[in-house]
Amino acid sequence: MDSFIIRKSGKLRGKVSISGAKNAMLPLMAASILAEGKSVFDNIPDLRDRRTMAQLLDMLGVKIEFSGSRLTADASRIESEEAPYSLVKQMRASIYVLAPLLARQGHARVSLPGGCAWGPRPIDQHLKGLTALGARIKIDHGYIEASAEKLRGTEIILSVPSVGATVNIMMAAVLAEGKTVIENAAREPEIVNLADALKQSGAVISGAGSSTIDIEGVREIKPIKAAVIPDRIEAGTFAAAAVITGGSLQIHDCRPDHLHAVIQKLKECGAHVEEGNRSLTVTGPSEKTAAVDVDTGYYPSFPTDMQAQIMAVLCLTDGSSTVVENIYADRFSHVPELNRLGAKIHVDGNIAVVKGVHRLEGAPVMATDIRASSALILAGLVADGETKILRIYHIDRGYERIEEKLRALGADIERVKEDH
Ligand code: EPU
Repeated sequence: MDSFIIRKSGKLRGKVSISGAKNAMLPLMAASILAEGKSVFDNIPDLRDRRTMAQLLDMLGVKIEFSGSRLTADASRIESEEAPYSLVKQMRASIYVLAPLLARQGHARVSLPGGCAWGPRPIDQHLKGLTALGARIKIDHGYIEASAEKLRGTEIILSVPSVGATVNIMMAAVLAEGKTVIENAAREPEIVNLADALKQSGAVISGAGSSTIDIEGVREIKPIKAAVIPDRIEAGTFAAAAVITGGSLQIHDCRPDHLHAVIQKLKECGAHVEEGNRSLTVTGPSEKTAAVDVDTGYYPSFPTDMQAQIMAVLCLTDGSSTVVENIYADRFSHVPELNRLGAKIHVDGNIAVVKGVHRLEGAPVMATDIRASSALILAGLVADGETKILRIYHIDRGYERIEEKLRALGADIERVKEDH
């Protein structure tokens, strides 16, 4: 298991290019199952989750090839309909093969994902949607068994605007007979990326990006050709790095229009942000960072996937900030670790109160999930002395070459191999 050693670094400066979005890539890769033939995806980031999804698709019979950031997925033949526990437990998004397998093969057997580091993450809305489309679903020894001779379009009202449920239902509805309407759909840019890709392949979808998505089923779609959108969370993380170190970063190949809520909060912290068409320049506050309150929510509200990183920024203010986590009530596994670095954060239910301190001190800390890890890196950049972050395989799931990118901006960070 690798670790990061980070030493207190000065103000980060320079240009950084943002990679394709993990959470847009994963549904696109799974969607390749829907079409017979070779789908081609560009701007694919080199991440551990990419390899896990490629491994899963390969097990299903989809032939995967990489060439730089281009991925070809040849789904001419599907040879298996099972996503085993060994892969699903590594990556919950393996659940994305459920709907396309069902739609194309009439059957899928996918391990139940189970909980994660910050508590339960139900999939009831995925199953409710697929059942409404006509699938028979039973849970058998920890596996979802889904089958359907024919899927039929219908109206589905989600109880929560779940990204994953919207993805799965949209993929199934594309090949269902008749019209499907998803009400209270997720509005995230990753949903729009998937819908656009499916439309280019012959699917009939309107309304993606709004709360109501209409899908007119078609008999088949052509192989997909699509580019993955830039990762808004990676861009937000680098913006937070500029703010916490008081530096100035030009963040290229990103979509500022996907980052409104994050930019707004960083400005409230005292950062100066200039928005270009596909770039952002973020300069840290000239005075002490201002304490601000943050509430996470569904897109376009402040993303839960940036909550840990903004909390790291809020550790070093003169005031007190309140961070309310509205998506995952327990998503605070970074808090005890930030406190080990000298932060003063108190959690009560889904509310964290961050009392600003004047300095953080390096210490060994443990990464518990992708975003918690990036918060610890941010804190490590400004903590006195040395911070060692253990279990960084989490960060490798979702950030492409993060230490190389940070080093190029002046960060003192190195990866060390552990013997055990
Ligand atoms: N929910 C239900 N029932 C369901 C599905 C979701 O109650 O059937 C609830 C969840 O418990 C949560 C809320 O709905 O409170 C939103 O969950 P959602 O389904 O939208 O999350 P997800 O699709 O499992 C994706 C991202 C997460 C990100 C969330 C929220 C991917 C692969 N994952 O998860 O990303 O936190 O949306 O934006 O897209 C990450 O990248 O670090 C990450 C965890």
